[in-house]
Amino acid sequence: MKLNWGMIGGGEGSQIGPAHRLGALADGNFSFAAGALDADPEKGRAYAQRLGVAADRAYGDWREMLEGERSRADRVDLVTVATPNSTHFEITKAFLEAGFHVLCEKPMTMTVEEGEEIVRVARASGKICAVNYCYSAYPMVREMRQMVATGQIGQVRLVVTNFSHGHHGNALDADNPRVRWRYDPAMAGVSGQFADCGIHALHMASFVVGDQVDRVSADFASTIPSRVLEDDAMVNFRMSGGTVGRLWTSSVAIGRQHGFDIQVFGETGGMRWASEQPNQVYYTPVGGRTQIMEKGESGLSDEAARLSRVAIAHPEGFPLAVANIYVDLAAAIRGEKRDGLPMAEDGLRSMAAVHAAVASAKDGGAWVDARPPMFRS
Ligand code: NAI
Repeated sequence: MKLNWGMIGGGEGSQIGPAHRLGALADGNFSFAAGALDADPEKGRAYAQRLGVAADRAYGDWREMLEGERSRADRVDLVTVATPNSTHFEITKAFLEAGFHVLCEKPMTMTVEEGEEIVRVARASGKICAVNYCYSAYPMVREMRQMVATGQIGQVRLVVTNFSHGHHGNALDADNPRVRWRYDPAMAGVSGQFADCGIHALHMASFVVGDQVDRVSADFASTIPSRVLEDDAMVNFRMSGGTVGRLWTSSVAIGRQHGFDIQVFGETGGMRWASEQPNQVYYTPVGGRTQIMEKGESGLSDEAARLSRVAIAHPEGFPLAVANIYVDLAAAIRGEKRDGLPMAEDGLRSMAAVHAAVASAKDGGAWVDARPPMFRS
């Protein structure tokens, strides 16, 4: 039985909308049944119908969609929230309270309090609230995680991760409306680049190391002076098990494209993965030669094999990583247990880290507790 899927945001021309549609529909688990795709109701209705959604389920806005769907026998099983950040909280909360499963884009909320509220509402409703940390669903990221968990590089001493690109590095383009809002507190919240890209890197560090971030010390800079929020951040962190963490995130690193990578250094080996070569992990055992491990080759973990879709040497990329999130969501909705699906708790941890990093940067890099209050006891 196919599940019914609905989407809010991700309208025509949006950045992330196509990846969700490719991901959700890739494996035959979901039918695209309903949508409120655009800030402009008419555009949203028309685009949804062009994508095959029935006219009576091509909604003008999310409230109309909530009312339209809640009483239907064939109502959507899962709602994806892919709108701008400041709207995530109220939409996600309303759909969870009405008994829908939700996949929310990152950052899940704007504040730690809102993040805690989403965790509480999700727990009380018994519904799944996942957050789209989709890079964690690349097969070779799962391989790294498995290698760490099974002790193949020993105790992890150090994790170093970057998410630094140069696409907002042109000062002459800083007033372009698609760029400017990201550095405007009214639209973006307390943090610019760290909340936008840095939290993917921080989530990845926790995911691969298998441990949570305890505290952070941050240095933020607005290298283009008209920007109120940071376009560059260096964040040191410590994990609860003692792992030392370093994170650089930037949007002014001209020449770097996607610029997301992670290196994990343990007592008996090191590993490196980069989103621009997502099918390889570089692994070096202590005292040994560097080996390139390739998606699809024999001998990888069951998890890496399960999430790899096309044969060895055929490239796999971002939409299939998003598809892996939807595969596990479909399984979870059907009652199977799925490890590794990023959940509301992860979204909350990110928000706590963002607010801690902002506080630290304002206080000259002082170490600040990065744990959400509800997880401290
Ligand atoms: P965008 O600005 O390219 O597109 C946003 C879309 O949402 C537009 O179609 C707009 O018309 C629509 N929209 C705005 N307000 C709406 C409302 N109230 N109801 C319905 N539709 C509405 O934004 P982009 O880059 O696609 O980002 C959307 C979200 O996805 C953000 O939260 C962003 O952080 C996240 N994102 C996540 C990525 C990932 O790797 N997980 C990558 C890129 C974005």
